Amino acid sequence: MSNKYYLTTPIYYPSGKFHIGTAYCETIADSIKRYKKARGYDVYLLTGLDEHGQKIQTLAEKNGQTPQQFVDKMAEEAKRLWKLMDIQYDDFIRTTETRHKKTVQKIVNIFLEKGDIYKGEYEGWYCMPCENYFTETQLVNGKCPDCGREVKKMKEEAYFFNMKKYENWLKKFYEQNPEFIVPESRKNEIFKNFIDPGLEDLCISRCTFDWGIQMPNDPKHVLYVWLDALTNYVTALGYMSDDETLFKKYWPADLHLVGKEIIRFHGIYWPIFLHALGLELPKKLYAHSWVVMKDGKMSKSVGNVIYPETLIKRYGLDATKYYLLQLMSFGQDSMFTPEDFVERYNSDLANDLGNLLNRTIGMINKYFNGIIPTDIKEETEFDEDLRNCAKEQIEKIEKNMDSYHIKDAIQNLWKYISRTNKYIDETAPWVLAKEENTEKLKAVMFNLAEALRKIAILSEPYIANSSSKILEQLGIPKQEATWDTLSKFDNIKKGTKVVEKGEPIFMRLNADEEIEFMKKAMKN
Ligand code: MSP
Repeated sequence: MSNKYYLTTPIYYPSGKFHIGTAYCETIADSIKRYKKARGYDVYLLTGLDEHGQKIQTLAEKNGQTPQQFVDKMAEEAKRLWKLMDIQYDDFIRTTETRHKKTVQKIVNIFLEKGDIYKGEYEGWYCMPCENYFTETQLVNGKCPDCGREVKKMKEEAYFFNMKKYENWLKKFYEQNPEFIVPESRKNEIFKNFIDPGLEDLCISRCTFDWGIQMPNDPKHVLYVWLDALTNYVTALGYMSDDETLFKKYWPADLHLVGKEIIRFHGIYWPIFLHALGLELPKKLYAHSWVVMKDGKMSKSVGNVIYPETLIKRYGLDATKYYLLQLMSFGQDSMFTPEDFVERYNSDLANDLGNLLNRTIGMINKYFNGIIPTDIKEETEFDEDLRNCAKEQIEKIEKNMDSYHIKDAIQNLWKYISRTNKYIDETAPWVLAKEENTEKLKAVMFNLAEALRKIAILSEPYIANSSSKILEQLGIPKQEATWDTLSKFDNIKKGTKVVEKGEPIFMRLNADEEIEFMKKAMKN
């Protein structure tokens, strides 16, 4: 059985600075990649930018740049952010790259040859200053939803993709693959709103602007962004290029991660395009929900935007990633608040995890000169329960990560951390030391070190830097701390020495100060 795992995130519009909501998808992608890698998969993670379209052209003009200059700069910005966030992507595709454009034109030619694309007329409400069409329902009080000005009903020549032709096939596909989209509620939505009422053909070209890939048969038309954008998942792998090695190895995608508002494009048009090309379909679409703020969506004009850089600079990368990963319940929008951020930081990271490590390192130094005892002859009455908790929570973490319930997996890990903290209270090592009960004290120190070893391995997909620091403080080489050693309880080598003084991995925050800081940052 192949152990390849092809994972994609949406390619982002380079229309502004990425906030924590935009960074959310990349953060979960990174944690899924790290988890799958740890489980032995050969993972390929693709991200990139969706650089064409009217909006980008207009933005570039406003900035006094050519669209290409504009997107080049934005691509650097995006890469800089993913580097800062230590996102382990394997390729960064840009839709303005020749490798992408060439293949897209070949794809369009196939559709033209098959008769899937026809010429027709596009009719809609046109806003002259914005140079953009809107549908009746997109208008706000009959005016342009972007600038608020008058709109005019207009028609233009355009190419359409014959979606209707594939409607029955799509329905059958969903009957046979009812779990293709998770959560199920997202699938139900696209059925109710788009498939059940009958598919509309999709307009795939425009001639009111020129920042896009030209229709190969009619260059005054450029492709409408979605056909251009969706194909990135195969063009990046070299589909229909001189070198299809990656495509042959990794396609079909094992998981497309997308935000809930773009599930229609991925759940209807993308499967139809692929089927029309005779290609295999991705195995799964996971439509995640949104990070929202108290007053709704993040928006600069409301003054409620928070950027990943702000949090990383002040609280570190792990705290930022941890917060985002534990925030979102499967299928539900979740609210960022400064109060919650500080609470999670202090309680989960500084208290539960940080203190556990600190106390353990301190006691091993104090009672055994820093050497983790390994010749264990006695047990305490709590050891078995601690071991059982490890087994139970590891199983649950794996199950939850395999079904993309990341928040639940993190909660399982924290149950294990809390159980380990409780073990310190139950066994009261300071009493054992006082009573010179050395054999039991050895067992307790060993069990604590072993629990932290497991916690380090289990936490790597979420807080990779802290995971490394825990191992470093324990004196356990990183290459020995592999996922398959989680089932073992005798993996710590004889003579393993912890650091003399373990630096706290998370310093407690002053709640009032930090809440104030974040609130201020959101207004800037
Ligand atoms: N360019 C298209 C995607 C094409 S994929 C073939 C696009 N770009 S986007 O920049 O607007 O959005 C990229 C992703 O960011 C989407 O999946 C979107 O859901 C996600 N998010 C943007 N704001 C978000 C939140 N506040 N919370 C979580 N994710 C959100 O759509």
